[in-house]
Amino acid sequence: MRTRVGIIGAGPAGLLLSQLLSHHGIDSVIIETRSQEYVEARIRAGVIEHGAVQTLTEAGVADRLHREGMRHDGIYLQWPGERHHLDFPDLCGQSVWVYGQTELTKDLFRIRLEAGQPIHFEVSDVSIIDPLAERPGIAFTDADGTPQLLECDAVAGCDGFHGVSRDTIPESVRTVWQRIYPYSWLGILAEVAPSTDELIYAWHPEGFALHSMRSHSISRLYVQVAPDDVIENWPDDRIWEALATRMALDGWTLDSGPTLEKGITPMRSFVSAPMRYGNLFLAGDAAHIVPPTGAKGLNLAIADVTRLSDALVRRFTEGREDLVDAYSDAALQRVWRSTHFSWWMTSMLHADDPADANAAFLRQMQLSQLRYVTSSRAASTTLAENYTGFSG
Ligand code: APR
Ligand code: PHB
Repeated sequence: MRTRVGIIGAGPAGLLLSQLLSHHGIDSVIIETRSQEYVEARIRAGVIEHGAVQTLTEAGVADRLHREGMRHDGIYLQWPGERHHLDFPDLCGQSVWVYGQTELTKDLFRIRLEAGQPIHFEVSDVSIIDPLAERPGIAFTDADGTPQLLECDAVAGCDGFHGVSRDTIPESVRTVWQRIYPYSWLGILAEVAPSTDELIYAWHPEGFALHSMRSHSISRLYVQVAPDDVIENWPDDRIWEALATRMALDGWTLDSGPTLEKGITPMRSFVSAPMRYGNLFLAGDAAHIVPPTGAKGLNLAIADVTRLSDALVRRFTEGREDLVDAYSDAALQRVWRSTHFSWWMTSMLHADDPADANAAFLRQMQLSQLRYVTSSRAASTTLAENYTGFSG
């Protein structure tokens, strides 16, 4: 088998890259270890930046997003007794869209498969051959057990945090930065109309809570839990009680409903550089992970593949190497901005272990920062600009 770009992973990064390339007449083949049903059932974040929506619109994959997605012009930040609204269009002239990553993935699958673009599902034994060569390759075993070799001009490692692409880059040329946070998020999807028009990020001494949504009838909610906590400790009643306590405000009630899905996600910041090794290019979670506070994961994946497709298109159509050469450093600049923003939001909003000798001090720092961010125009603009997507 031969193609221009061999793409490992059919998450949003791999699928969108394939779509962007085909818009410029460049063919690609995607391989994915899971089944389509599995990938489409994965519940992930749901906030898409202004610029990312533009990319999706130009790529022709945003029709349903524009029909069913919800434009949000701000967020609420709260702590006990106070809830403040940040108005993004007023602060920075931009908005975000609330639309589940799962729905975006379904849209991308439909469009890729309708265009007759091959996606090999349920492959195994994936390895990258000769990433430094002019013609690298991807070896894998197809779902029916047939060994395959895909020859290409470039390999895109879009295989998420647990994929094989990142580790193909020798340790001697790689640097990794990491922070593991001492808490996790327990998330639920609930069949109930959201009790808010925009997202509520709530600081509380018992732990952070977030009210998000997927539609006018489906809510997505999160509570901070201990890093080693297990879902068995959290029957539905306990989750709703924690949400109601942490988001309580006079005159406001949280409506509850049947829980459709629940799970616990650990939180980490992780960056691996470089994002290019010869003709292997990493994009999305394969190269970096952010904690979910601020919803940057999907947006970074979209920003990476927008840049990568542009660089590859220019290489293939104009023979230009400069954008390909600049890819890693330019992508990492944005990665570090989002890494800082999501670390900052996380640090401002999560309760530290009360047994920590610094916990009482840190709590005062957080409350002071929250007051500042909701009362100073400069500080609230900083948050708004980063939340809606800073590309500078
Ligand atoms: N070969 C082929 N596919 C693989 C391999 C492999 N060896 N290993 C993993 N995969 C697949 C996974 O099954 C998954 O479908 O790669 C895909 C990677 O997709 P994502 O994890 O969704 O990563 P990405 O496309 O970079 O999207 C980033 O996903 O994790 C969230 O918060 C993150 O929203 C962000 C987005
Ligand atoms: C979500 O809707 O899943 C979501 C929203 C905002 C975040 C994180 C997750 O910061």
